Amino acid sequence: MSTATRLEDAIAELAGFNDDPAAGGITREVYTPTYRAALDRVAKWMRDAGLEVRLDAVGNLFGRWEGAEPDAPLVLTGSHVDTTLNAGRYDGVLGVLGAIEAVRLLQEAGTVPRRSIELVAWAGEEPRFGTGCVGSRAAAGRLERADLDRLCDRDGTSMATALRDAGFDPDRLADAAIDPATVHALVELHIEQGVVLETGGESIGVVTAIAAPHDFRLGFRGAATHAGATPMHLRRDALAGAAEAMTALERIVRASPSGTTVGTVGAIRVRPGAINVVPGTAELDVDVRDSDLGARTQVVEDVLAAAREIAAQRRLELELTPIVEDVPVACEPGVVAAAEAAVRELGLPYRRMTSGAYHDAMVLGSRVPIGMIFVPSAGGVSHHPDEHTDAADLERGVRVLVGTLARLAA
Ligand code: HGY
Ligand code: MN
Ligand code: MN
Repeated sequence: MSTATRLEDAIAELAGFNDDPAAGGITREVYTPTYRAALDRVAKWMRDAGLEVRLDAVGNLFGRWEGAEPDAPLVLTGSHVDTTLNAGRYDGVLGVLGAIEAVRLLQEAGTVPRRSIELVAWAGEEPRFGTGCVGSRAAAGRLERADLDRLCDRDGTSMATALRDAGFDPDRLADAAIDPATVHALVELHIEQGVVLETGGESIGVVTAIAAPHDFRLGFRGAATHAGATPMHLRRDALAGAAEAMTALERIVRASPSGTTVGTVGAIRVRPGAINVVPGTAELDVDVRDSDLGARTQVVEDVLAAAREIAAQRRLELELTPIVEDVPVACEPGVVAAAEAAVRELGLPYRRMTSGAYHDAMVLGSRVPIGMIFVPSAGGVSHHPDEHTDAADLERGVRVLVGTLARLAA
């Protein structure tokens, strides 16, 4: 069976672990029973590839291929198998199942790596609890025990509760931290989730930097009053204020000096939410990203100033709740070079590029040398049921990962 077929079949099987098939796409949020079942399936694939499997204190799943020098700093490769809502089947999954396929190909070629290679499925890359990459953040020692009670999902379930319900102990969070000295390099295979490769006609993206999010919640509070009996000049309409702030955000982001800043309000909550009541409160979840930290910082400052001005004008109260503030990371030149050598050896058209999406590699990038390999996304569609990558592109990505791992683990 070919790599492409084996990989496509495994991706299709994993797509079956889905909490919301009726709505379209795949919903498999971290620490849910469906997620645990999918993780068990991945663990079986890892064992079938001869890997030594373990689950850490926060549900990161590792599969170890012991090298000739077991104590030498190891090579990590992997991604995530949790999804955002009604999403596609390749985001994250390719980096985990593709890594298993890459190990299988290396073994079939008789490779004996000097350095151990550890595959990983990081828990909670998608932001079920508002902040993404909770598993890799724990591994990087960048999550405190108090965060597990503070971070909550849309139903108000804390990460600590979700961990307990899934059979983990939030008080053992610190056990998940990885000593950076034990890691030689980390490389993550992922779909691009944008249109750059497809537009440029390249098969492979060698990532040089990863943009990072600065996310926060803006809560506007006015007065819920009768929609019919309240004259316009007497209103303190929270939603009207939030709407003005959203258009201000878009204007400010579009004017960013870097030209690479992006800003999104992906969720809004309005109370009381009745057609005949002037909204009393409106809450915006704001996501601002850039690979240029200075530009992102300036944009966020300007957005907050505009929101304060709008609230003052409309006699609204404004509450700012921080969610996450990550720093953009550069990929390690040595890891980039290994990936480029692997691409060149295969004679594939490729480009160096920045990742607009964040990844677990971004979180680990502050502690260990990282690199990423991208394959094209059809139409740049991702976080959507129509997310697609051709089988040939999947296979090319795996083969570049094979060459990269062979170099990094030599
Ligand atoms: O939002 C992101 O960039 C990632 O896909 N979770
Ligand atoms: Mn994603
Ligand atoms: Mn992803």
